Amino acid sequence: MMNGPASAPSCVPPRSAIILYGTETGTAQDLASEIARCLERQRFALVDVLPLDSVSFNLLSKYALTVFVLATTGQGEFPSNARKFWTSLLRKKLGPTTLQDVRFALVGLGSSSYLRFNWAARKLAKRLKMLGANQVFEVCECDELADGSTERAFEEWIGRFGHEVLRRWPLAEQAGDLDAGGHGGETSRWILKRADEIDSLASREFNGHLQHANPSRPDSFEAKLESNDRVTPPSHWQDVRFLRLSTPAPIDYQPGDSLAIHPENMATDVDDMLLLMDWHSIADTPLVLIPNPAYRKPRSPVFHLSSPLPDISTTTTTTTLRQLLTSHLDMTAIPRRSFFGHLARFTTNTMHRDRLLEFTNPDYLDEYYDYATRPRRSILEVLQEFDSVKLPWCEVCSVLPALRPRQFSISTETIFELLIAIVKYRTVLRKVREGVCTRYLAQLPVGSILRNVEWKREGRFATFSRDQQTKIYVQDRLREYAEEVGSVLLQDPTAMVIVCGASGQMPKAVRLALGDALRRAEAEQFLARMEREGRYKQETWS
Ligand SMILES: Cc1cc2nc3c(=O)[nH]c(=O)nc-3n(C[C@H](O)[C@H](O)[C@H](O)COP(=O)(O)OP(=O)(O)OC[C@H]3O[C@@H](n4cnc5c(N)ncnc54)[C@H](O)[C@@H]3O)c2cc1C
Ligand SMILES: Cc1cc2nc3c(=O)[nH]c(=O)nc-3n(C[C@H](O)[C@H](O)[C@H](O)COP(=O)(O)O)c2cc1C
Repeated sequence: MMNGPASAPSCVPPRSAIILYGTETGTAQDLASEIARCLERQRFALVDVLPLDSVSFNLLSKYALTVFVLATTGQGEFPSNARKFWTSLLRKKLGPTTLQDVRFALVGLGSSSYLRFNWAARKLAKRLKMLGANQVFEVCECDELADGSTERAFEEWIGRFGHEVLRRWPLAEQAGDLDAGGHGGETSRWILKRADEIDSLASREFNGHLQHANPSRPDSFEAKLESNDRVTPPSHWQDVRFLRLSTPAPIDYQPGDSLAIHPENMATDVDDMLLLMDWHSIADTPLVLIPNPAYRKPRSPVFHLSSPLPDISTTTTTTTLRQLLTSHLDMTAIPRRSFFGHLARFTTNTMHRDRLLEFTNPDYLDEYYDYATRPRRSILEVLQEFDSVKLPWCEVCSVLPALRPRQFSISTETIFELLIAIVKYRTVLRKVREGVCTRYLAQLPVGSILRNVEWKREGRFATFSRDQQTKIYVQDRLREYAEEVGSVLLQDPTAMVIVCGASGQMPKAVRLALGDALRRAEAEQFLARMEREGRYKQETWS
């Protein structure tokens, strides 16, 4: 419930908000955009959406409302694009009134399969309050493992949030009715324009913005695929690949670090999309992404930082639709509910429009789950079904989500070696579902003559859980070698444990097995100390 000061200081635009996200795999950014759309539908005059690390905390008091959307990563850690902001809040010289003019709401993203559930959001809320900030709305803690997952908790929260915002910042009488569920009045902030229609001065200015918004990632590099071998027998249900990647210069990484790989969409999917939307004639025309002149809201000083595509400047600022659809925009993601609202803007077929808007209606959440989430229907498939929808090419960057890199754990020190389970599964839909990144990797040709490098297994105790009648899991193997494992952990101060794999029961079972191997009452404290010293690392995913 709202309990903060009734009004913002007079210099603050009364209906202004900044939405700040901290994300590792993109969910928090999606939800931040959804909150922004909710506030724009409430006719907020100024809404900025930015990664936490791109702003200083001094900026927050310049908005009537700050909404944080923050995932937890690692073992209760802040995501990499939120750590600088978090560290800045920990400065000793800050006091109990530093943030007294800040009113905030907070959405935390986490998974209860981790010991430190929603730790980052909880730590942030505590620190903000210590510094005098006013929490003006109940915290939303999303749990990926809960029934209905992150989405359901968020949808319920945003419904209540919307009502409270309206109560606290009522609309001026002349503002007219709100566009309740849909996205009718929405204007994209950024649009694509043909490069030859932009004069060079303006284009330089826009390019400057994009470069400023997206400094090329300092830790990104090129790698060459040296091998790409299937390690599971063809008769086995799952295709698991062993990939070796080399780099021109050595990189100082440790086994257990992970590598983020940017996938590409399949050329056939790109062609399908171009055909479906009648975009073939413009597919290879040079384009630039510019602030939309029709976006009539006041632009804040940080507007230029809010480009929807995090990596656009790492290629070129001049791009093409084909390039965007191949490398930057996700067509295979499961569409969020707000996506259906966007589509409804671009069809004249009333039956299609009504159905699309139904999916955005919180009263029909189950319809949405049954249609999109449970069968894992992709954006492209939705567009193929609602074939009356014709997206204007200039708006595509505001409608399709960004294609995100996927992480893979590195297993050796001399050359990047990755073990990758190719994601392929069935749902009620006829077509087999495939993971966007692993599908891309699976078909990548090897780029050098070192094609047949083998995986040497000496010194490793491999466990194949389902290769025999009785299942043997890694925790069983640890128990089998309990004496050796226990003595290495106790006697070698450099010994490390790195747990990688699914985030369900496995990490807990492994920890219990390690505790048993230590054969001492304070085994858990011992493992916790290893963790503090960075010698117990867990990289698990769901
Ligand atoms: C730090 C870290 C380290 C990682 N290390 C590795 C590693 O070493 N090796 C590795 O293989 N992966 C690893 N992963 C996972 C990896 O990043 C990818 O998420 C995974 O490989 C899938 O990527 P994708 O793009 O192919 O699939 P996506 O297109 O992202 O699809 C994956 C999604 O499909 C859905 N899905 C998958 N299977 C099913 C099913 N049977 N039924 C219903 N839905 C399903 C799930 O919702 C899942 O989130 C790691 C992840 C992290 C965060
Ligand atoms: C490597 C990794 C570590 C995670 N660690 C935690 C954790 O310690 N606590 C928690 O509550 N959730 C944890 N999670 C779950 C994420 O917070 C959750 O998946 C969230 O929805 C991710 O949001 P994002 O896509 O914005 O990064 C972890 C997820 C991953 C992949």
